[in-house]
Parts: sequence; C-alpha cells; structure tokens
Amino acid sequence: MKSVLAFDVYGTLIDTHGLLADLALLVGDKAELFSHTWRNKQLEYSFRRGLMRRYQPFSLCTAQALTFTCQQLQIALSNEQQQTLLTKYLRLPAFTDVQPALKTLAEKYTLVAFSNGEKVAVDSLLLHAGIDGYFTNVITADAVSTFKPDPTIYQYLLHSVNCPANRTWLISSNPFDVIGASECGLQTAWVKRSPQMVFDPWDIQPTVEVSHLGELGIALK
Ligand code: 2OP
Repeated sequence: MKSVLAFDVYGTLIDTHGLLADLALLVGDKAELFSHTWRNKQLEYSFRRGLMRRYQPFSLCTAQALTFTCQQLQIALSNEQQQTLLTKYLRLPAFTDVQPALKTLAEKYTLVAFSNGEKVAVDSLLLHAGIDGYFTNVITADAVSTFKPDPTIYQYLLHSVNCPANRTWLISSNPFDVIGASECGLQTAWVKRSPQMVFDPWDIQPTVEVSHLGELGIALK
C-alpha cells in the first residue's frame, strides 16, 4: 500500500493572494493590505465557527470576510464588484511549483486534496488550475461540518484514505494545519513558502520542512 499525501489547498496548492492585480485596479496601493486582511479574517471566521459549532461553508466565511475588509479599510465596493471578486476566488491560480511536483509525487504516493473549502469550490479550483487529475480523492470540511484544526476533520481524513496515521502525510503551508494534523498523529510537511513565514512556537514541529513542493520528493524519503 502506498503512503498518502494529503495536500492542503488554500495557501499550499492555490495562491490565496492571486487576485492582487484585480485588487490593485479596485483599491490601488491598498491591494496587499486588502488581500491579507481578507485572508486572515476568512481564517478567523472559520476558526470561530468551528469553536462555536456553528458551521457554515468556507465560501460564506470568504464572502463575509470580504465585506468586513471593505468596512475595515473603508473601501466602498459595490455588491457587483464583491461578487466578481468572489467568482474569481473560485479560479485562483496554483503556485508554479505545484503541477510538476504533483506529477512526480503521483508516481510513488496516493495524493488527495484536503481542505476547509467545500467540495464544489475545491473541485472548481483544482479543475481551473489543471491539477484535478492528480488526486484520487478531494476531502473537504463540508462532509463533517467543521473546520481544521478540529481533530474531527483529520480523523475523517484518515478514515477516508484508510491508511494509518504514521503513513499519512499532511502537506501544508499553514502552521495551524500542520499542528492540528501532528496532534492527530499524522506525519507533517510544512511548506515555508517565504522566508518571512513563522511557525507557531507551540513546541510542536513539522516532521519535515520544505520551501517549495519540488523539495518534497527528497524530504519524504
Ligand atoms: C484549506 O485549504 C483553509 O488553507 C486551508 O484547508
């Protein structure tokens, strides 16, 4: 039986800041601040909904975080402009290292996508990025109505892939995801996509650390 690599989607395979050019047209030099505020608030909303046991799809967290960002930065985007951004969010680009790495890794491992996004949104992203064919399964939060890093979703992943935790790898650029998976006994690879990224000082370390997905082949040996 092959080991399983479970890839986080937003921020690991797919660039959540891939709308910077669109945002620059709308908000000028506030585009980076806008993009980061939007992403951070989206994650915060998913964490809070998980803690409160008030699950709503990740796309709603994204939409509400967009509205929050406009209000916080005092940028008046019309409903139509917000809707256009949300539609484009379903077609965010993959990072450039993703496709060649998946191609190589698929020869040796079983690859699955594993995301807080709902299935229909993640399917759309992977399809648009042209990488859907590498995954044998797309495992998403809407199946269990909670979000990473709730242990429930990592247990659901293990159940879905039917592979022991010590042969199942979570590949993620998100430290909260790596720590959540590690606590459930999975092997973990942290993708430190930029030198500025900081891993949470929680006395839990990833099994391996890479700076891009092309390094995984050697790191996992
Ligand atoms: C994911 O795709 C939210 O990045 C996170 O699960």
